[in-house]
Amino acid sequence: MPSWPLNVDGFDHSDFSEPALSFVPSVATAAMIEVKGPMFERWKGDLLLATLRGNRMYRLRPVGDRIVYSEPMFLGERIRDLAELPDGAIVAWVDRGVLLELRPSAKLSAFNRFCSGCHQPTFGVPAGPSLVGLMGREIASVPGFRYSPALAKLNGVWDEARLMAYLRDPQKFAPGTSMVLPPLDDVLLAELIDQLKG
Ligand code: HEC
Repeated sequence: MPSWPLNVDGFDHSDFSEPALSFVPSVATAAMIEVKGPMFERWKGDLLLATLRGNRMYRLRPVGDRIVYSEPMFLGERIRDLAELPDGAIVAWVDRGVLLELRPSAKLSAFNRFCSGCHQPTFGVPAGPSLVGLMGREIASVPGFRYSPALAKLNGVWDEARLMAYLRDPQKFAPGTSMVLPPLDDVLLAELIDQLKG
């Protein structure tokens, strides 16, 4: 790499403190907060890092001046800023201009049991498009996601009736869609739709 001719010290960084942690390649840090509130008891004192690459937030555990642990968490969005609410919930402000509210779930929700594996995986490339802000959104409209021609050709926005029909029988709603689901009963469907509205 060529050096700036007036930079006589070259790459000597001895005037600086060593980093506690460095990401190579960069994760494009946008913000960092410390978890202080009562809601995420096991995260207390940890640092949450908002990033603009990889649609991830990181949880870092500092011990002294070292970071001993870094956990990437897939949120499916580029994250601009983070804040902790007075009750301890974490809010993330994402690129699309919406706020995501993060709270620990008491039980494994229907969404976590049946959908998050494809739509919100903890690591790896998701098999399905992000479902954040689904209601009222154009069908098959997440930029960059490769939808099947069957779903891509449908017009209209997602509402309760369309979602119910798609989840009850994906192939009937959009013959040829690449989403595969087990049969879901009415109680589960109602719970899922409630969650996706929220
Ligand atoms: C095995 C992986 C998988 C599972 C499990 C799964 N999905 Fe999907 N989902 C997909 C794929 C792939 C697509 C894109 C389908 C297409 O292009 O035809 C999709 C698309 C969707 C869409 C359309 C989104 C849009 O942008 O128009 C909705 C809504 C949806 N899924 C809801 C759910 C719900 C709710 C669950 C849980 C009950 C679920 N999915 C479970 C893979 C999955």
